[in-house]
Amino acid sequence: QTSFAEIRGNDLYIDNVKASDLAKKYGTPLYVMSEGHIRHQMNELKEKFMDKYDKALPLFASKSFSCLAIYKLAQEYGIGIDCVSAGEISIALKAGFDPKKIYFHGNNKLPSEIEYAISHGINHFVIDNFNEIDLVEKIAGELNEKVYATLRVVPGIKAGGHNFIQTGHKDTKFGFSSHFGIYLKAIEQIVNSENIVFEGLHAHIGSQVFDLYAYISAMQKFMGFVDEIYDKFGIVVSKVNAGGGYGIAYNKKDEPLDFETITSEIMKVINGHYDERGWDRPAVLIEPGRYVVGNAGITLYTVGTIKEIPDVRTYVSIDGGMSDNIRTALYDAEYDGIVANKAGETKTKTVTIAGKCCESGDIIAKDLPVTANIEAGDIFAVFSTGAYNYTMSSNYNQLPKPAVVFTYEGKSKTVVRRQTFEDLIAYDVEENY
Ligand code: LLP
Repeated sequence: QTSFAEIRGNDLYIDNVKASDLAKKYGTPLYVMSEGHIRHQMNELKEKFMDKYDKALPLFASKSFSCLAIYKLAQEYGIGIDCVSAGEISIALKAGFDPKKIYFHGNNKLPSEIEYAISHGINHFVIDNFNEIDLVEKIAGELNEKVYATLRVVPGIKAGGHNFIQTGHKDTKFGFSSHFGIYLKAIEQIVNSENIVFEGLHAHIGSQVFDLYAYISAMQKFMGFVDEIYDKFGIVVSKVNAGGGYGIAYNKKDEPLDFETITSEIMKVINGHYDERGWDRPAVLIEPGRYVVGNAGITLYTVGTIKEIPDVRTYVSIDGGMSDNIRTALYDAEYDGIVANKAGETKTKTVTIAGKCCESGDIIAKDLPVTANIEAGDIFAVFSTGAYNYTMSSNYNQLPKPAVVFTYEGKSKTVVRRQTFEDLIAYDVEENY
């Protein structure tokens, strides 16, 4: 699948660690994340964007994978992060992340979250709506702080891998509409505010995007907005955040865009426009999440029940499911996988990998070719589970959440421990019942 995962003999190795040894050592289900791959991707953000262009800052969209370890890694590479809640911010700060490189996103930031963020030194907000302008103005005033704002504006573009993860089109809950001058009213309000400094515009057109033209046309639309803002307010927009959403390959059908191609095309549109106008070039931000961590993850499960329904289907049940990976149930996502301890064998059987939750929709992968030899006790590896698996996991059916283990150069270490039964009742107030 990916370069850090390879088959040697009959076994799958992750960063030179045998997958079945990881299963033995840490138990299953297990989220294995290649630290080597994460480092490689973060280094791409650094070298091919941050170091390559003036005033360029990549943010890691931490909703895709958030825990202390990942914020520490991001900090090491000098990149920024995108947080969408005070909870994410609290973990980042606990990891020692620089608050000045945290951008606070979200379509309904709570007053308590705004206060938490500002009082902890976070002063970059991606402002989403009029209510937020009022709240930030008031709370920043009370705390005697200034907030720097990029405005999320909807470019009116349809892109993204599934209806649920498209955000750039007109009918979305996110951001200011660009119709009827709505976003201009928002800028006017910010320009007239006392505690919010207008810096620029933000767009996020969707997630799991493979269409280069969608990024180009979103930025072209934005350059129109930049001109409108100059005409109306005499302000040159000094920051443009082009969002994330860079698609990754979950299987052989997916053809991801090249990182440098996306970023250089974005830069071409923006810098070309500013150069033409004779303006100082703006700071440019991007905020991929899945691109950084998606392919780095491999979930290991133990095979249990195998149910053959003649002429219909064979269900292979594993010891996790929609509680650790809800993406198949939610978005019809397609995953590839392999029997890790029989990885060299030819795949002559087609099966459906099912979870152990009490839902028919609890499927991880449909119609997957596997070795005919698959049996209970085998270790089943599902690829590319690094993004939106751990962070979207639940305790449905009271399944304890799996541990997260990082692998790197032949070694492994736990970064999030497995939940215990004690953890399942950690918030129950026993004495009240
Ligand atoms: N920026 C903003 C404003 C976003 O809303 C998102 C994702 C990103 C950046 C990062 O997108 P990425 O580069 O990771 O595609 N749970 C879904 C994806 C939801 C994405 C939400 N926003 C999934 O599992 O496919």
